Amino acid sequence: MSDLASLPTRPGPPQRRRKPLRLPSAFRYYEVELPGRLSDKADRLTTAGLVPTCDRRPIDADLTGDWHQLVIDAGLRTDEPTLWFAEGLIQYLPKERARNLFHDMHALSATGSAACGDFVDGEFFSEPEHHRMLSRIATLGLSMTSIDDPIHWFAHEGWSAQIFRPSDLLAGSHPFLSIPIPERLAVRRPGIGYFLAKYQP
Ligand SMILES: C[S@@+](CC[C@H](N)C(=O)[O-])C[C@H]1O[C@@H](n2cnc3c(N)ncnc32)[C@H](O)[C@@H]1O
Repeated sequence: MSDLASLPTRPGPPQRRRKPLRLPSAFRYYEVELPGRLSDKADRLTTAGLVPTCDRRPIDADLTGDWHQLVIDAGLRTDEPTLWFAEGLIQYLPKERARNLFHDMHALSATGSAACGDFVDGEFFSEPEHHRMLSRIATLGLSMTSIDDPIHWFAHEGWSAQIFRPSDLLAGSHPFLSIPIPERLAVRRPGIGYFLAKYQP
């Protein structure tokens, strides 16, 4: 949800380049990544001449550990609504850690906060096309987490959730979309979903 998150680190053909979001300078964007990775990303963006328009605050932290205080120290206001954005993350965390991540976000969220991101479900694992990738991940000693009851998963303690599939994005029915996404951006893989959870206790 920031200029930086929406920018490619390596420019592709012009028609495939994503447009940077021109977020206002007052928009505070906290980007949490494993230690050491954000400085490399910042270097690449600077080299490419890309400068964030919003107030970007990078935080080196492991989201499976104690990251709360680091975000608060960076200025996060827990009395104001926050939009949490977890893209390509939850499926790579062990299930228990992924659950804890939601409890952590909840603890830092004021009424009116929202969380969005993607997940994979059981269908992703039964799709033959994915078996090679999954066994490669296993040889690295890693695994992927599936969420089979996403509405229940993301809806707890005052949160309510909606789930969207790639076909919904193509139809433009996600509330964050003012127009449908173009066909070329649709993720055609089975078992991929997108959640949008809102905190209105
Ligand atoms: C598929 S990429 C998504 C990239 C991200 N959406 C962006 O725009 O930069 C997954 C990212 O999650 C990060 N990640 C994985 N495990 C993490 C953890 N425990 N704590 C913090 N970041 C983590 C990885 O370093 C990687 O950059």
